[in-house]
Amino acid sequence: MEDKIRVLLTEEEVDEKIKQLGLKISEDYAGRSVHLICVLKGGAFFMCELAKRITVPVSMDFMSVSSYGNGTATSGAVKIIKDLDEPIEDKDVLIVEDIIDSGTTLHYLTEILYKRKPASIRICTLLDKPERRTADVKVDYVGFNIPDEFVVGYGLDYAQKYRNLPYIGVVEVDK
Ligand code: IMP
Ligand code: MG
Repeated sequence: MEDKIRVLLTEEEVDEKIKQLGLKISEDYAGRSVHLICVLKGGAFFMCELAKRITVPVSMDFMSVSSYGNGTATSGAVKIIKDLDEPIEDKDVLIVEDIIDSGTTLHYLTEILYKRKPASIRICTLLDKPERRTADVKVDYVGFNIPDEFVVGYGLDYAQKYRNLPYIGVVEVDK
């Protein structure tokens, strides 16, 4: 069965926004390098595109945490599925996320990463649903604030589908 998907942000809009974010990050980190941490799997598409737009030296690492099951509702639990390959001590870390919803994942993740004594930690997310926030997180770079709807594409999935869509869409659930 095919789900109906309504376009929320076009490929052009997303690409343009990532260009702007890359510029801003390059300015903010001028004279330093930035260590990007991708939250798998959703953040991968965004991080690769963003990295290409950053002009200061970039290094990258990947991490996977669980927060959601195969549905659209939160389970509340978060645990590390795959840890970073490299230490982050003294590095200027920029966590790259696809979307911030309740904020639980990022709240938990920054707490763990701060214990590893990085020089700094900032957060960059392509999408933010500020209405849904229940956990305390300070987000430094936001691509788009979006309404409380379940979105897919550009790395975001619905039951592991649609990550490869080049735009952001809303799954229209039949009622
Ligand atoms: P949080 O811990 O509630 O902030 O949830 C963050 C994670 O939930 C994101 O990294 C996504 O993997 C997933 N998520 C939240 N909202 C959506 C959505 O609308 N579409 C797809 N995944 C989502
Ligand atoms: Mg994610």
